[in-house]
Amino acid sequence: MRCPKCLLCLSALLTLLGLKVYIEWTSESRLSKVYLGPQGTLPGPSPASPEPTLPANLSARLGQTGPLPLAYWNQQQRRLGALPSGNSTEEGDCRAWGAAAAAEIPDFTSYPEDLRRFLLSAACRSFPQWLPGGGRGQVPSCAETNIPYLLLAVKSEPGRFAERQAVRETWGGPAPGIRLLFLLGSPVGEGGPDLGPLVAWESHRYSDLLLWDFLDVPFNETLKDLLLLSWLSHHCAGVSFILQAQDDAFVHTPALLDYLRALPPSWARGLYLGEVFSQAKPLRKPGGPFYVPMSFFEGDYPAYASGGGYIIAGRLAPWLLQAAARVAPFPFNDVYIGLCFRALGLAPRAHIGFLTAWPADRRADPCVLRDLLLVRPIRPQESLWLWKHLQDPQLHC
Ligand SMILES: *[C@@H]1O[C@H](CO)[C@@H](O)[C@H](O)[C@H]1NC(C)=O
Ligand SMILES: *[C@@H]1O[C@H](CO)[C@@H](O)[C@H](O)[C@H]1NC(C)=O
Ligand SMILES: *[C@@H]1O[C@H](CO)[C@@H](O)[C@H](O)[C@H]1NC(C)=O
Repeated sequence: MRCPKCLLCLSALLTLLGLKVYIEWTSESRLSKVYLGPQGTLPGPSPASPEPTLPANLSARLGQTGPLPLAYWNQQQRRLGALPSGNSTEEGDCRAWGAAAAAEIPDFTSYPEDLRRFLLSAACRSFPQWLPGGGRGQVPSCAETNIPYLLLAVKSEPGRFAERQAVRETWGGPAPGIRLLFLLGSPVGEGGPDLGPLVAWESHRYSDLLLWDFLDVPFNETLKDLLLLSWLSHHCAGVSFILQAQDDAFVHTPALLDYLRALPPSWARGLYLGEVFSQAKPLRKPGGPFYVPMSFFEGDYPAYASGGGYIIAGRLAPWLLQAAARVAPFPFNDVYIGLCFRALGLAPRAHIGFLTAWPADRRADPCVLRDLLLVRPIRPQESLWLWKHLQDPQLHC
């Protein structure tokens, strides 16, 4: 066939086709960089606005619109202007809130002991820092020139030395833009051994323990969140993101950083990200885990991120503190944070890379972990092993 024009046409067509394929390929890989974390979720319908607001009447926000249930929490929330600020000069006030709850709830004496103890002191939220030996080991404020991009705030308990050390030696280790802090209650405890001297040594050695003088029990976990947020506003304002995790979590920090850096700014501004429970209801079995009596709370839980590990935008810290002053106390920390976000009009975002209930019999495999952001619970030894393998350039999956 002699047709130089046809040949010319054909080669032009092929070039165009190649160009189209190339453009599609590059824009797709760019897109997947921008929108997909490791196995990330595609952008879903975004919540109305990434900007928090706090209306004067929170009832509608918190779903309290129908006839008012008799349960104590619901009644309180409808009435609540603000909780007593609970600082030491108003100690009496915050205890009075608890005493009133005990008097008004008809079957208060049948509540589980930890729930009763929680309610009696729930409005007391201001505690001094527990400072080891004459103030040594005080956690330094952030330098103005060195505000962390990502603050790792790890909830621990005084006796969990091995868990903390494993975090320091693995995912919480020193890295640019990262700061690690552990959140703890008093090491003196109640009826247990006095861990004060050991914790004081650890604090002096690592300067990464934020300790407050309250009893370190699960129902006091919300205190750790709120006291951290207020510490940050005084000592480390301007953090871009805060990861709230437990000390038995394993975080794939480099992947998490990649994910956060690639977030569209409109997501990043109102971020509340993790494994989201959107249909949870209170459990009503007396004596069972997470039991909530009908006389205390009626209704469904808000959508909330599992307390095993979630991320918030640092700029929301002051907003959360304002919301918490107006949302009636609730015993479960993650549900409570969910309520505060709902009060602000912000919805949690789910990411499938957060697995906060890793099955005990499932071995944590570096090839699986490589594509995840946060898994728990993981034992300290396993954390070390995983971290080592994740760093290995020879890792073949
Ligand atoms: C807040 O709103 C609820 C329902 O929308 C209403 O019943 C209640 O009276 C309001 N509270 C105040 C203090 O205005
Ligand atoms: C505690 O409350 C009093 C009175 O409202 C106030 O003057 C004081 O500044 C508060 N202290 C703290 C630490 O918030
Ligand atoms: C939380 O800590 C405070 C202060 O130590 C204590 O009074 C309260 O009983 C603790 N809460 C629970 C549920 O034990």
